[in-house]
Amino acid sequence: MKPVTLNTLKDLKRRGEKMTCLTAYDYSFASLLDRAGIDMIMVGDSLGMVIQGHETTLPVSVADMVYHTRCVTRGVQRALVIADMPFMSYQESPQRALACAGRLMQKGGAQVVKLEGGEAMAETVRFLVERGIPVCAHLGLTPQSVHQLGGYRVQGKEATSAERIQHDAKILQQAGASLLVLEAVPTELAKAITADVSMTTIGIGAGPHCDAQVLVLHDMLGVYPRPSPKFSKNFMSGATDIEAAIKAYIVAVKTGTFPGAEHSFHSA
Ligand code: KIV
Repeated sequence: MKPVTLNTLKDLKRRGEKMTCLTAYDYSFASLLDRAGIDMIMVGDSLGMVIQGHETTLPVSVADMVYHTRCVTRGVQRALVIADMPFMSYQESPQRALACAGRLMQKGGAQVVKLEGGEAMAETVRFLVERGIPVCAHLGLTPQSVHQLGGYRVQGKEATSAERIQHDAKILQQAGASLLVLEAVPTELAKAITADVSMTTIGIGAGPHCDAQVLVLHDMLGVYPRPSPKFSKNFMSGATDIEAAIKAYIVAVKTGTFPGAEHSFHSA
């Protein structure tokens, strides 16, 4: 079984083949996703909500992320593992970001680290990449900024905010980011960015044109007790078991049947 690397993702983008990603936070689910053939596993700081029961991702610590990343990587042989840098672990300085990224990779076994934010994060992205740390950027609805954004709202609907996001994507690519999560943005914007950058775009509520799709595992299995976002889909309905639901998600993404119009947003 050949492991998925950043080069694998580049080849798939070049060939126009859709890629799959789901979040996981522990050994058993990570093993199941890996066996099912998922391309990427994201140890998201969404664990603050779906595992720890907080209202936001803000209380998650570096120690929490290292612990869950380690649990996940023990179960993975093939998928590329991306770990989130939690709130306040990278915003202060590139040096602080390097220390956190180092722990996620050395102690957690992550292959890529993810951080949220646009141009203001470019210096930090460059600092990490120049030191051999692959970075996944995250634009659009960035949950660590939920209070600044005034809630979990779709971003980039108006022309000026869409231009800002597209500009940020280019700047982050120039800084060396390899992957880019686009969360809760209009389909048209995600399509334009995906065509404009060589980074692999990973959409969540960003329409069908991204190179890859990601969902929060607990949303797509329908086990999170709070309401799930409009862009998510419960793949357990109609599935015989969890493995079948995961496989149905992989097939739906690869064949372009997920996300559908009902999971997508449009420009104003
Ligand atoms: O925290 C998370 O799980 C994420 C993804 C769903 C994009 O950031």
